[in-house]
Amino acid sequence: MENVATFGRMAPAAEKQAAPAASDGFDPSLLQSTGLTARIVAWVVRHPFALMAFARRFWPIPTFKGWAIITRYDDVAEALQNDKAIAVPFGPQIKTLNDGPNFVLGMADGPEYQALHKATMSVFPREDNAAIIGPMAYHEASNLLELGEGRIDGVRGLLTLVPTRICEKYYGLTIPDEPNFARWTIAMSSYMFGNPSNDPKLEKAAVAAGALVRPIMDDAIARAKANPEADTIAARLVSKQIADPDSMPDEIIRAILIGMVTGFVPTNTMASGHMLDLLLDNPEWLAQAQDAARSDDDDRLKRCLFEAMRFWPLNPGPFRVAAEDVTIAAGTRRAKTIRKGTKLLVSTQSAMFDPRRVEHPTRFDPDRKPVDYMLMGFGLHWCIGAPLAYAQITQTFKPLLKRRNVRRAPGKDGKMTRFGPFPESLWVLYDH
Ligand code: HEM
Repeated sequence: MENVATFGRMAPAAEKQAAPAASDGFDPSLLQSTGLTARIVAWVVRHPFALMAFARRFWPIPTFKGWAIITRYDDVAEALQNDKAIAVPFGPQIKTLNDGPNFVLGMADGPEYQALHKATMSVFPREDNAAIIGPMAYHEASNLLELGEGRIDGVRGLLTLVPTRICEKYYGLTIPDEPNFARWTIAMSSYMFGNPSNDPKLEKAAVAAGALVRPIMDDAIARAKANPEADTIAARLVSKQIADPDSMPDEIIRAILIGMVTGFVPTNTMASGHMLDLLLDNPEWLAQAQDAARSDDDDRLKRCLFEAMRFWPLNPGPFRVAAEDVTIAAGTRRAKTIRKGTKLLVSTQSAMFDPRRVEHPTRFDPDRKPVDYMLMGFGLHWCIGAPLAYAQITQTFKPLLKRRNVRRAPGKDGKMTRFGPFPESLWVLYDH
């Protein structure tokens, strides 16, 4: 296993060695598109503001070639609350990677969804976030920064590594290869939730990654069965199985673990990687976040970080598919009927900048109302891991932001690199 000490303080010359190598059957190059189209898409995703403002004003629900994009706040909220007609399309991919069962984000509302949602929530109680996740993240991050001695890969060596370590300690996984584990989960997440065109390369990478990740979950379940008293997520799920074997077969435990890991490591890496890049680009935002960290105002620090992320969310918005003909914004001049089978991009990014609902949307304002945010989704599928994400990300940033003189490393090291669309490396300097 990658050692904490070497991982946190790799010298630039060692970076190449530290980057994950290809691993059994998993070809990382399948996620690296370098073509012009990929670069244009990445640029638009990063700088969507003028385009989306134009669409909201003049063409709020554009439709073309089997696609519809929803851009206004009210219409985005309406679409994401109408989960029956505007359905999640992720089920087949989730089932492929789970080798059988579905998980919540691939399911329509109903008794099966509700039961799985409840079972998942019951092993991730909210109290854990203040009692376990926050302190664990703070402790891990502080150690990594200490070992970094003033220089750290802020993404790979901190923002990805801390959630990976939490998967080991809190979930009860044994992860033999931490850097590759992150890449496998990223491939799985990209294929499940970011693959509306069914790219066969992405499918190949994700299927190989799934074959490497499932045994890690099976091993955690086997160890939890040998020690069901352990206080890990795997052991909590196994205890439920012991109490009621029919409700929690192994394959469901595994689906919950896979869902809550692929929802965690890739997503928190992307969210916090964007936050780091944004803070380093905006000294005034960084100063506000540092004030909050230094005065131990965790709530304000969280608000600074997630307000920054509003300017660069995970993606333009979630994908959906029309399960039946459905009219959006009925009774208004912009009403549009979307035909069954149409793919939808429900742009939560655009909604969060819609001045019809969000006051001074282009202003950085950590005090804005919770309802201004759709970073964690909206409606039925609102993020089940949001409280965990708030605790982990806030407490991972806190020890970094308490340091003086936090800045990008010079040259290429200080520029973010990515694995697929996910941040992978960004070296940061700080006073030790
Ligand atoms: C800052 C970090 C995170 C962000 C920005 C985020 C964002 C989101 C969004 C936008 C959705 C809705 C997707 C949709 O409607 O298609 C969602 C759902 C979900 N997230 Fe997160 N998430 C984060 C962290 C986490 C974590 C840490 C976990 C698990 C520990 C997690 C697990 C899930 C699951 C399982 C769902 C599906 C919920 C359902 O279908 O009812 N997420 N997340």
